[in-house]
Amino acid sequence: MNLPRIMGHRGAAGHAPENTLAALRMAAQLGVRWVEFDVHLSADRTPILIHDDTLDRTTDGEGAVDAQTADRLVTLDAGSWFSDSFFDEPVPTLEQAIQLLASLGLGANVEIKPSPGHELETGSVVARLLREQWPSTLPPPILSSFKTEALAAARNVAPQFDRALLVHKLTRAWGQQMRDFGCTALHCAHRRLSASDVEQVRRAGYQLNVFTVNDRSLGDRLFTWGVGTLISDYPDRLL
Ligand code: G3P
Ligand code: MG
Repeated sequence: MNLPRIMGHRGAAGHAPENTLAALRMAAQLGVRWVEFDVHLSADRTPILIHDDTLDRTTDGEGAVDAQTADRLVTLDAGSWFSDSFFDEPVPTLEQAIQLLASLGLGANVEIKPSPGHELETGSVVARLLREQWPSTLPPPILSSFKTEALAAARNVAPQFDRALLVHKLTRAWGQQMRDFGCTALHCAHRRLSASDVEQVRRAGYQLNVFTVNDRSLGDRLFTWGVGTLISDYPDRLL
């Protein structure tokens, strides 16, 4: 896995509405070569880009994401909450996002974000779509998740893609989980991370990537600790 030092978070969520095609375009414009984004399943099992289990914060819809069909979800406005200039920016399907990534030449860390109870299904549906549609012109995607069931399902369907375990902090279980789910990288929040954590992960032979880093001096410190890649809402501040 050969990742750049800086990756856009939810596209480039500081500059455009998170997890929209506009956010992917913004990341490319800022000079980013890889982006992270979040994928849920709709009621009819179509992978779509959205962070929360519910529609309320980032769209003009309401209620659970997994209660709506993809046909309905793509008609929602996922831009106006962020700014009027993104009025009617739609909720994208993963398929649409992949096509745009191909035309922009952007690599991607696809975060599998299952609605509660849909961990296995989300992992396998997302991995299958990536296996079938990922463009050969792009570097292979990295699949990440906080949910180990989703990582296991993704591994069954598309073992060829790298997997990253997502954690808010290093727990006692992290090493065993990395082995159990065949992960090559650990993606950790910066808040409770220490230099010795970074050393421990690297000594075990894994890459450690960190989210969500929006501050230059924090980023510099993490790099001196040996962090590989920083995932940022404002990648332009770190590039
Ligand atoms: O993948 C890194 C980061 O996106 C994980 O947290 O909640 O922003 O999806 P979250
Ligand atoms: Mg995410």
